[in-house]
Amino acid sequence: MSRAVERVERVVLVGFMGAGKSTVGRRLAQQLGWGFLDLDTWIEERHRSRIAELFARHGEAWFRDEERAAAERAAALKRVVVAAGGGAFVQPATRAILQRGALTVYLQVAPATLLRRIRPDGSRPLASNRAKITELLTAREPCYRLADVTVDTTRLRPEAVARAIAERVVGVGGGGST
Ligand code: S3P
Repeated sequence: MSRAVERVERVVLVGFMGAGKSTVGRRLAQQLGWGFLDLDTWIEERHRSRIAELFARHGEAWFRDEERAAAERAAALKRVVVAAGGGAFVQPATRAILQRGALTVYLQVAPATLLRRIRPDGSRPLASNRAKITELLTAREPCYRLADVTVDTTRLRPEAVARAIAERVVGVGGGGST
C-alpha cells in the first residue's frame, strides 16, 4: 500500500463497469459488519430516475457533479463499504474525496470477462459497444491503479474477493467493533 491511511473508516471499491463492485461490496460489508452503499443507487434515489435517464436528460458533466456530491456525503460516514461507479475514480476531485480516510480497492477483471459481462441493454450509457468499452478501459486503467490495493478478481468468486479485502482492512486498523 503506497498511501498512508491512518485509520480506515471506509472501504471504497473502484473499477470498470461489470467488475462486481456492488456484489463484492455487499459481501465485504457483511463480513466486516459494516454498512454498504452504492453511489449510483444514491443518485438514482435522489432523482427518482435510472442512471441512463439521468445521462440522457442532463448529460455526463451533470452526472459527474452529482457523483462528486454523493462521494462527499459518503465521506462523512464511518464503517461503510462504498461501491463507486466506474467513472468516479477517474475524476481527480472525486477521487480525492473517495481516498479520504478510506482504503481504496481496485477490482481488476480481464477485459474479455468484462466484455462478456457488460450487456448492451442501454443501462450503462458509456458502454454502448465493444470498441467504446475497450477504449475506456485502456484510458482508465492508470487511474484505477491509483487505488491502494489491486485485486485481480478474474478467477475469484465474490466471497473470496471480499475475504481478501477484509483481511487487508483488519491489517490496516479498520474493522473490529469500535
Ligand atoms: C459509469 C459507470 C456506471 C455509472 C454510469 C457511468 C462509468 O456505474 O456510474 O453509467 O463512467 O463507468 P457502474 O460501474 O456501477 O456500472
